[in-house]
Amino acid sequence: MTATPRAEYRWTHRHLLGLEQLSAADIRFLLQTARGFEEVSTRSIKKVPALRGRVVVNLFFEDSTRTRVSFNLAASRLSADVLDISAKGSSVAKGETLTDTARNIEAMGVDVIVCRHSLSGAAHQLARAVRCSVINAGDGQHEHPTQGLLDIYTLARRLGREDFDLSGVTVALVGDIAHSRVARSNVHGLVKLGARVILVGPPTLLPSSMTELGCELSSDFDAVLPRVDAINMLRIQFERIQSQAFPSVREYAHFFGLTERRLARAKPDVLVMHPGPVNRGIEIESAVADGPQSTILEQVTNGLAVRMACLFLVTGSRTGEAGGASSTATPAAAGATPVTATGAAPAPTSKGTVGGMGVS
Ligand code: CP
Repeated sequence: MTATPRAEYRWTHRHLLGLEQLSAADIRFLLQTARGFEEVSTRSIKKVPALRGRVVVNLFFEDSTRTRVSFNLAASRLSADVLDISAKGSSVAKGETLTDTARNIEAMGVDVIVCRHSLSGAAHQLARAVRCSVINAGDGQHEHPTQGLLDIYTLARRLGREDFDLSGVTVALVGDIAHSRVARSNVHGLVKLGARVILVGPPTLLPSSMTELGCELSSDFDAVLPRVDAINMLRIQFERIQSQAFPSVREYAHFFGLTERRLARAKPDVLVMHPGPVNRGIEIESAVADGPQSTILEQVTNGLAVRMACLFLVTGSRTGEAGGASSTATPAAAGATPVTATGAAPAPTSKGTVGGMGVS
């Protein structure tokens, strides 16, 4: 009897627009790829040649600190040329459309556009308009896929889930669920990887439609706390809340703020997460944000490896005439230290070509 050969996984996504479009296998492959890149940032010379000769443009139409800097550094660490463009100071300020701006940028030989925009669907619109890869760095209230990925990466690494299987793990996402692209991306990713997700917030910020994504909803934070392995505190999106969603900030903080006192109700080793930027004293007390259970800065650190993986995979997919980066398209092939699902270094891969990039 001959053994059936195991089907080789193949990354086929030219764009990264949201976690809704990715399968569990895609997400695991991306996070494993990030695991391989983690080590690059610990070197004295923090660079691998994977994207040498490629051009990445950060096109940010909304404010950002973490995501913009992280993509910039991630592209630099992969040896790409990086350009940063903001709405202010560009021809967008003169009335040029998003599509026209992107097409003009692409005409200069760009390989990846990383886009942040206040309108939900902006990244999808760009992806339809250009031939290069598009990565969504946050679109309105829709998705923030790289934030979702780095949150999941941090959670899995902290819990020792090196295979990125989150079965049996319960996560509470707390706060302004209605306006949160971070919540939506986390939900898609966490549920696909097997986690149980409880969305917590005032009823006015807790759309019942989220149950269709496989989540539980609750407005009783204190009752949820003892059940969870991680609490991801979301920022109140003051810039997106148009009507009076809750009586006062003080009342919101009273019922949904994570204080030291409230944290004492949770499991002793519960993880405290926040995507940033933090409204200190509103959704989270400073002592908790800076406390021993907080993973906030670790999330930021992990974002670099995750974004390196995203850039690496979408460019490999685009150039791969044979169709996408395969399971042999590893960070090791691009010059990073290889890491397996169990954290051990595997045998070196065969000559690594990443979707035709010729990285060997
Ligand atoms: N978490 C996050 O997206 O932060 P920035 O808005 O600073 O990019």
